[in-house]
Amino acid sequence: MTAKRRILVTSALPYANGPLHLGHMVETIQTDIWVRFQKLRGHECMYVCADDTHGTPIMLRAQSEGITPEQLIARVALEHKADLDAFNIGFDNYHSTHSEENRELTYRAYEALERGGHIERRMVRQAYDEKAEMFLPDRFVKGTCPRCNAANQYGDSCENCGATYSTNELIDPVSVVSGSTPVERESEHLFFKLANFETMLREWTHSGTLQQAVTNKLEEWFSTGLKDWDISRDAPYFGFEIPDAPGKYFYVWLDAPIGYMASFLNLCREHGWGFEAWWKPGSPTELYHFIGKDILYFHSLFWPAVLHGAGFRTPNAVFVHGFLTINGEKMSKSRGTFITASSWREHLPTEPLRYFFASRLGSGLDDLDLGLHDFVTKVNSDIVGKLVNIASRCSGFLARNFDNRLAIKLPEPDLYEEFLHKLPSIAESYEQRDYAGALREIMALADRANLYIDQQKPWLLAKNPERANEVHGVCTQAINLFRILIMLLKPVLPELAGKAEVFLGGHELAWEDVQRPLLGSKVNHYEALATRIDPAAISALIAANQQPQIASTQPATVNTSATTNAIGMSEATIDDFAKLDLRIAKIINAEHVEGTDKLLKLTVDIGPELGTRTIFAGIRAAYEPHQLIDRLTLVFANLTPRKMRFGLSEGMVLAAGSDATDGDKKIFILSPDSGAIAGMKVK
Ligand code: 2FM
Ligand code: ZN
Repeated sequence: MTAKRRILVTSALPYANGPLHLGHMVETIQTDIWVRFQKLRGHECMYVCADDTHGTPIMLRAQSEGITPEQLIARVALEHKADLDAFNIGFDNYHSTHSEENRELTYRAYEALERGGHIERRMVRQAYDEKAEMFLPDRFVKGTCPRCNAANQYGDSCENCGATYSTNELIDPVSVVSGSTPVERESEHLFFKLANFETMLREWTHSGTLQQAVTNKLEEWFSTGLKDWDISRDAPYFGFEIPDAPGKYFYVWLDAPIGYMASFLNLCREHGWGFEAWWKPGSPTELYHFIGKDILYFHSLFWPAVLHGAGFRTPNAVFVHGFLTINGEKMSKSRGTFITASSWREHLPTEPLRYFFASRLGSGLDDLDLGLHDFVTKVNSDIVGKLVNIASRCSGFLARNFDNRLAIKLPEPDLYEEFLHKLPSIAESYEQRDYAGALREIMALADRANLYIDQQKPWLLAKNPERANEVHGVCTQAINLFRILIMLLKPVLPELAGKAEVFLGGHELAWEDVQRPLLGSKVNHYEALATRIDPAAISALIAANQQPQIASTQPATVNTSATTNAIGMSEATIDDFAKLDLRIAKIINAEHVEGTDKLLKLTVDIGPELGTRTIFAGIRAAYEPHQLIDRLTLVFANLTPRKMRFGLSEGMVLAAGSDATDGDKKIFILSPDSGAIAGMKVK
C-alpha cells in the first residue's frame, strides 16, 4: 500500500441558469468514480463543487421570470442538487459562487494581483443597448457576418464560416436583449496581465502531469501569444462589485474557479480544518480539476496564473474529457436527445448510466457516444447477465442447503489468486481515468467466474447428497470471486455495491479487504441486485424530451459539455423541415370577424390538389381585408386544424413580425416572387 495521499478534486461548476443535462453527468460521473476509487484505496480525497451563479445570462433570466437572481439561483441549486444526488455524486461539499467565502477569496486574490502589478486599467469601446441601458456581451449582439454575409450570427464569431471578428464589424447588429440597434460606448475596464505569467505557465505545462493533447494546445497558445484578460464588467451585472471600482463587477469567469476554493473553505470552516495548508505554494496536497475541453483555456492559462499571482499553489493537473454525443450525433431537442438529468431519472435508473459512461471513458479528450441501443444491451449483458448472475446462481444453494454459511476454505485458491493478480493493473487504469480499460478487465474476470460455475455445475452436484461439500465449496468460491468484483466496481456502482455488501455480511469493502477471502461466516438473504432495462423506457425518454422548435430570444450560456447551439436555440434537421407542407396560396376572400379585434377570416386557394381552405389569421392590426384579396402568400398547409370560437382554422398564413412588447408590433405576411402560383410547394 502506498503512503496516504491528500487529494482535492473538483468538477466544473454548472451554471445556475438551467437544468443539468447528460453532458454535465459525464463529467460529474467521471470525477465521482475517480474520487470513490481514491477513497476506496484509503487516501484522503475530497470532492468539492458549486453552482456557478454570476453573469449576464443569469441576471437576464431572473428578470424574464420576474424574480431576483438570488431567488433564481436558490431554486436552481435545489434542482441541481436533487439531480446530482440521484446519480450518487458523492460531493464532500456542494456550494455556490454567490457566497461569502467566494467574495472573501475573490477580493483576496484580486488585491494580491493588484499589489503584484498584474492588473491594468484601460478604456474599451463596447456595444451598448440604450433601451436596456446595459453594455452587451458579444453573444448578446447578433447580425450579419462581415465575411460571408450569413445572417443571424453572434457578435464575436460566425457559425457559418468560422470567422472571428469584433462586434463593431457585424453588419446590421441587433441587441438580443431589446431588439434595438446597439451603439458604441467607452468604459474603463480592468485587465489581468496574463503575459506576466508566461514563464511560470510554461514551467507548469511541463510539470509532467498534463495530458499530451493539453500540452500541445498550450504550446499553440504560447506561440500565438498570451493576451491580457478583461476581468471586469459594467453594472448592471450579477456578481461581486470590484472593491476599488464602484459600478464595476468581476467577470463571472474570474470568481467561478475561485468558487472551487470557496466551496472547500466552506467545508473546512464547517469541520474546523485548516484551509491554508492545502492552498499554500508548494503544498504537498494534490489538486485536480476535471473539465470539458471547451473550458481548457480558462483552466490551463488564466486559472494557474491567477492562483500563482495571488500567492496560492497551482493545480497538479487539469483532467480534460471530450463531449457527449447521443446516438452518434450532437444532443438535439428536436430528436429528443437533449436529455436532462431529471428526465433521465424519471424514466430510468441512474446507476446503469454511470456504468455505461465508465465503459466508454478513456483518459483522453475523445468524445464519447451514448448509443441508446448499445446502452440497453451493454447494461443488461454486463451488469445483469454477468455480474449479478454470479451471486444469483449461487446464493440459493447457500440458503437452502447451508443456512447461508460459507465454507471454511476455498476449493480453488489459485483461481482466487488469479483474480488478485489483476488488481494492480485495474488500479492503474482507474488512476489514469481509463475506466473503459478497468471495466474490460473486470468483466473478463466476471466471465471467468461464470465459466467456473458453468464448469462445476453446482445444480447437478446438488442432486447428489454425497457431494454437498463440493456444492458448498463451489458456491463459496464463486461468492468470493463476486466479492472481489464488487469491490472493484464500487467506484462505478456504489448503490449496487452497497446492496451486495449487505448480502455479503454488511461490511464496507475497502481495496485491501479482498486480500483475505470471506470464509466460515454467514451471508444475508439474497435480494435481486439489478433488473434488466426495458427498451420501452428509452422510447418514453426520447418522447418526453422531444420538443417543438422554439426560437429563443434570450441567450443561454454554454454548458460544460453541451453540444447544442450555444444560445440554447433548438435545432431542426432537414427531416424536420420535410414534415411541413408549405404552399403558395391565393387569398380569395378576407373579412373581419365579429367579436375579435385580432383576427381576419381568410379564404385561401391552395391549388387543385388541396383546394380552398378557411384560415383565421391574427393580422387584423396590420391589414385591412381589401388589401389582401387576390394576394399570393405562404401557408402551412398540414397544420392540424384548430377549432376556434369562430369556426375551424385549417392552416396558418406565414407572417414575419417583431417581438416588440411596447405596442409597436409590426406584421408582414410573406409573399412569393412573381411567377409563383397557388398550390406550389416550398422546398
Ligand atoms: O462552462 C461552464 O459551465 C462554467 N460554468 C464552468 C465554470 S468551471 C469553474 F471555473 F468554475
Ligand atoms: Zn461568416
